Amino acid sequence: MTVDPAARVAELRAQIAHHNERYFAMDAPEISDADFDLLVRELTELEAAHPELAVADSPTQTVGASATFAPVEHEIPMMSLDKAFNTDEFDNWHTRLVRAAGEGRELGSFVCELKFDGLAISARYENGTLVRAATRGDGRVGEDVTANVATIANVPKQLGSDAPAILEVRGEVYMPISDFNALNDARREAGEQLYANPRNTAAGSLRQKDASVTASRNLRWFAYQLGQVEGAPTLTRHSETFEYLDSLGFPVNDQVKVVESADAVKAYFADAEARRHEFDYETDGAVAKIDSLAMQRDLGVTSHHPRWAIAFKFQPEEKSTKLIDIQVSIGGKGKATPFAVLEPVFVGGSTVQMATLHNEDQVKVKNIRPGDTVLVRKAGDVIPEVLGPVLSERAPDLPEWTFPTHCSCENHHPLSRSEGDAAHYCLHPTCPIQRDAWIEHFAARAAMDIEGFGERTVQLFTAQGLLSDIAGVYELDFEAVGQIEGFGEISVRNLETSIEASKGQGLGRLLIGLNIRHLGNSGAHVLAKAFGHLDKIIEADLETLASVDGVGPTIAESLRAYFDDEINLGIIERLRAAGVDFNGPEVIEVDQTLEGLAIVVSGGLENFSRDSVKDAITSRGGKSPGSVSKKTTALVVGESPGASKVTKAEELGVPIIDEAAFVELLETGVVPPG
Ligand code: IVH
Repeated sequence: MTVDPAARVAELRAQIAHHNERYFAMDAPEISDADFDLLVRELTELEAAHPELAVADSPTQTVGASATFAPVEHEIPMMSLDKAFNTDEFDNWHTRLVRAAGEGRELGSFVCELKFDGLAISARYENGTLVRAATRGDGRVGEDVTANVATIANVPKQLGSDAPAILEVRGEVYMPISDFNALNDARREAGEQLYANPRNTAAGSLRQKDASVTASRNLRWFAYQLGQVEGAPTLTRHSETFEYLDSLGFPVNDQVKVVESADAVKAYFADAEARRHEFDYETDGAVAKIDSLAMQRDLGVTSHHPRWAIAFKFQPEEKSTKLIDIQVSIGGKGKATPFAVLEPVFVGGSTVQMATLHNEDQVKVKNIRPGDTVLVRKAGDVIPEVLGPVLSERAPDLPEWTFPTHCSCENHHPLSRSEGDAAHYCLHPTCPIQRDAWIEHFAARAAMDIEGFGERTVQLFTAQGLLSDIAGVYELDFEAVGQIEGFGEISVRNLETSIEASKGQGLGRLLIGLNIRHLGNSGAHVLAKAFGHLDKIIEADLETLASVDGVGPTIAESLRAYFDDEINLGIIERLRAAGVDFNGPEVIEVDQTLEGLAIVVSGGLENFSRDSVKDAITSRGGKSPGSVSKKTTALVVGESPGASKVTKAEELGVPIIDEAAFVELLETGVVPPG
């Protein structure tokens, strides 16, 4: 079948215009960025192959903009970046540049940066005062969002006395992932429609008529480029821009790295993609820029993008797929949770075919129906999420989904939802699905962590009558287990060992395993710490329970109801008899060795995660700021530290130490001599 290129170009333009409108005007995209890029790409290629079809107002030449804010003409256009979707395309870019540089002339070093998935902003300072902030718009004319940008905490409003006459700083405004998740958690609780992703939420928050709405959201930005500058020291390298911006108090990202070869750029890209989930902000790629500003000038720009920079795009984290069905799973304690059954789709590094939909209201606010094409996203690290339907692809007569009225187990007991509760429950005490789910939950990793005690094993044991509740896990007849097909001597012994080991998991995990309605994992650990022993929780009255920080009245009531139930108390006594540890964690007092000290960490450490390194510093009374200043006690450098931090520390004479010296510093409070 041949496709008429003119017809396809028209179709693509219409589709792109539609999706631009959804994205820019409504902040409600229907397709993923990756799918959108593919449309633009196909159109760009068709226009290149058929120049007679190219027109000035093609979406390949413009980006969407709206008329809500006053227009601002950029003195220097805000260009976009050329993109490479794989290393071959990067190599092609590099080869082109080497050729363009001319025989015998080196390109020199590259500056590698992350490509933040936020919204580009230009902030203009005159004699050190922030006078105007604008969005990128179509690159030539943007929108005046000064009042909104002025509410962003880490955008300097006033620079020091050494500020130049004119300084235009460009950077990316974003919403930290942790703030985005907290915002959505609150909306989920309130039964409100969830925001699609941090980028759109940041864009929506920034483009508010009422700047106090912007102020209520924790937006941030990273500065990464200079625009118009007058009266500033002459810089010769892009990497110096970061040092300069940092010295003026602008937040620069700590992953910036100067490298010397194209291979090292590719290594940076690969590393950045592998570590993208370590950051509390979204990235959709990494950027390489030629470091030498003289070389940048010589290479020049096209009508869209500078030749001296390229964005390497990461694998997309949002994709569209078919919603095959919505089913309901029954958890321990009978909670009925709807989940999406999806046509398998590779997103965010793994194949997704199921995603929780939380409860009936969430299915309603997401407005999805079996048969819909839906957008799927990997939220945070691992949990896949259905964002919503692609309405333009919905069949006209697609029926709405309704919550099942009965449990799918053999008892077919009605599912009920009580007032004020978002969840449905099957309240039948002998529901076999509930029983199995509870035992499985008890043995799961976050609870008693019994290896080899997954769904299949639980179902096998309950079906054989070897197990009927969680206490039964510690009363198992291993001889009978050994008779079951597939359970050899070694697997029985392994199972016995891991069950025995689980007895010592401690109160926090035990509380999780007890499966108390409304009590989440962190609440369980808080309780364990606060009470120190299960019996103290069992004896506590409602008021005492509710007074624990992070518990509150709903959980307190649920705890009381749980521990007033004879059946539950019977199970607990059997757990005690089996020797399960009912004690909470010992509260260890750490020496305040770092009181009054500020320690900045840059790059990956071997024995600390990002969180644990912060914890190690703050629990000892120290501070762990994000940037180096005169007040910094030491800069700890790990794998791939941020270049600007290292330079800054060197400039200011702040000691730079490695991980081993850091460990010593934690213990002694003294920076070991280098
Ligand atoms: S430099 C002339 N650096 O990507 C180059 N842009 O497609 C100007 N972006 O509009 C941009 N991270 O919103 C640059 N480290 C980074 C970036 C970055 C994200 C965005 C920015 C820009 C778009 C270009």
